[in-house]
Amino acid sequence: MTELGPVAWPPAPIRTERLVLREPEARDRAAIIELFTSPEVGTYIGGPRPRDEFERAMPEVPTRRPGLFVVDLDGAMIGIVTLDRRDAERPGHVRPDAGEAELGYMFLPEAWGCGYATEACAAALDWLAGALPGEPVVLCTQTANDRSMRLAAKLGFTEVERFEEYGAEQWFGVWPSDTPSG
Ligand SMILES: CC(C)(COP(=O)(O)OP(=O)(O)OC[C@H]1O[C@@H](n2cnc3c(N)ncnc32)[C@H](O)[C@@H]1OP(=O)(O)O)[C@@H](O)C(=O)NCCC(=O)NCCS
Repeated sequence: MTELGPVAWPPAPIRTERLVLREPEARDRAAIIELFTSPEVGTYIGGPRPRDEFERAMPEVPTRRPGLFVVDLDGAMIGIVTLDRRDAERPGHVRPDAGEAELGYMFLPEAWGCGYATEACAAALDWLAGALPGEPVVLCTQTANDRSMRLAAKLGFTEVERFEEYGAEQWFGVWPSDTPSG
């Protein structure tokens, strides 16, 4: 995973109807540990991280980087949305030089089913479209991950290809949908 690149960072916190997208703070530490060590969250993304190890390695102020947004609902973190550069050696690309901006998302299970991921990801995509105009965004998710597949469709991602990786079928899509692929 590579950082997003030449964007002014951090932007001012992004406010949506119900949420705020902002940088991680020390007060998010427990929620971040919960997120990465939750078996439910890890089901389609390689499994949960071992809790002890993850907790020990986690700094007091969670690491910040361009493209990493904490999603805040009424002052508490409920998930994260990320925009990073897709590794060139992985399958799935829409640009000959690879390194596309790639959307990722993880929310705490108690926040699922409320439309928060859709709301937050749409705001992050909107931010990227302003920061790097014309930049295509890609997304890769297991086809078995129904919630993630529905989210990708709602956000306006369209399928480029499917392939096997990590022993599972992956769906690879691009946004906006009129981006030339191949
Ligand atoms: C993928 C993930 C973010 C999807 O979360 P989600 O809450 O289902 O996604 P959304 O924000 O789109 O919410 C949609 C649901 O909210 C419901 N909803 C309720 N109120 C809503 C509102 N005001 N607006 C929109 N949707 C609303 C929708 O009906 C929909 O329910 P349904 O799925 O039962 O049809 C979540 O399952 C997750 O974090 N998974 C673990 C991490 C992961 O696998 N990430 C994928 C990496 S590729």
